[in-house]
Amino acid sequence: MQTVVLAHETDFDGWRAEARRLCGQGVAPEMISWQVEGKGGDLFAGVSEAGPAKGSVREISVPKSFPGIARAVICHRDEERFDRLYRILWRLQTEKNLIERKADPDIVWLRSREKAIRRDVHKMHAFVRFRKAGDAPDGRENFVSWFEPTHRIEEIGTPFFKRRFANMNWAIVTPEKTARWDGKTLSFGPGGSKRDVPPEDVMEEGWKTYFASIFNPARVKISAMTSEMPKKYWKNLPEAELIPELLEQAETRARQMVEDSITEANRLADVVATRREVLPQNAEIRSLEDLKSAASNCVRCPLYCDASQTVMGDGPSGARLMIVGEQPGDQEDIAGRPFVGPAGQLLNEALLKAGIDRRRTYVTNAVKHFKFMTRGKRRIHQSPTVREIDVCGHWLSEERRLVQPDVIIALGASAARGILGQSITLKDWRGEIHELVDGTKLVVTVHPSYLLRLPDAQRAEAEQRLFVSELALAATALKPVKPVEKLAHQAELTFD
Ligand code: URA
Repeated sequence: MQTVVLAHETDFDGWRAEARRLCGQGVAPEMISWQVEGKGGDLFAGVSEAGPAKGSVREISVPKSFPGIARAVICHRDEERFDRLYRILWRLQTEKNLIERKADPDIVWLRSREKAIRRDVHKMHAFVRFRKAGDAPDGRENFVSWFEPTHRIEEIGTPFFKRRFANMNWAIVTPEKTARWDGKTLSFGPGGSKRDVPPEDVMEEGWKTYFASIFNPARVKISAMTSEMPKKYWKNLPEAELIPELLEQAETRARQMVEDSITEANRLADVVATRREVLPQNAEIRSLEDLKSAASNCVRCPLYCDASQTVMGDGPSGARLMIVGEQPGDQEDIAGRPFVGPAGQLLNEALLKAGIDRRRTYVTNAVKHFKFMTRGKRRIHQSPTVREIDVCGHWLSEERRLVQPDVIIALGASAARGILGQSITLKDWRGEIHELVDGTKLVVTVHPSYLLRLPDAQRAEAEQRLFVSELALAATALKPVKPVEKLAHQAELTFD
């Protein structure tokens, strides 16, 4: 075992130099213990036990994007970051496309840590509020701000302020570091406390006036707002003290709007409720029928309150291809089956063109209840939240366990979240065959509703062609030969 002691928690240069050397010498990840100077490690270990750098035995190469990602990820508080980054570096030497394999557990880890850092830096840029702290002897104004980042992002987050506020002296104090800009140099010293920042000043009145003027009560979306401006930042934002009052007023106005358009309660829900076959609690779920019965009583999230019924998937239990949509729509909610409305029709046509027999596929959704808002007599689709998708992931996992498809097609980002448990950017994932940890192949494409909404006919046609080609791509991922018995059995289940 070789111990490498890095100078500090965000010592990227130290990690990079040692990682390069060790990887070049062929030292496997499990043979290295990464430690940080002065942190619970060996007091005498000031240098690597691997000894001084020797010439590399092999050339190290990484994709262009890797150093930047590693630089960011080292700022994460994840204790495993040095080991995991080294393991990825190690694997990159023999698995050239590793960084593209978005379902690989190491890459999922890497991307999620990178995303957390980018988000933290974004919050720092958005929520740092400077207070005036007198003038410097050279006549420049001094400003100080207190900020509490989630990760150790001071060094990568503060250069932005150097560019933005080049003409003033400023300091950003965090619990672990203080960044200072004097017009020439950006330097870092020990952290501080909120008391290092002078009391409220006149600039904060300006922030409050500005915030109140841009706050639109008719468009307030609390979940989006708290996700953009998480509550942990509120205590350091002067304008945040206005939020409760503004929200209170917004609610009254919103309620008024809803009352004006309220419609009858969903009667179908009562009818369906009396029809529910309830599986005894804790009964073992051995078939899709059992699963449907158990899910019919699902109260895992509040969506069951307004929907008529739980809409589980549809198709043979031995299907090799599973298609996952977002959630049942208005017609599916009534019929109790997925993809029977307009999006379903488009899907059927596209499947036909792609040479896929829908009767042999298992079609389902990431979320099993219809989420909507009423407008007059109409029920308008509402996108499920990440939490709703994740909670409903229980049923989707059960469907996967019982069907065991070889290939899954995720229609849109919500479906992909349901399968992967992480949010993705569709354009980065579509059009490729990904391999999941359990070996299942995944193809991500757009949702048919997106195609229905495209206003430009030419564009819609091109997008539909692409959609068909991506369905066909998924079909190519099916293993070419399947034992005849299984297909016969499947047909029996499907068509009899
Ligand atoms: N849209 C979906 O995502 N699923 C359906 O079942 C219907 C429309």
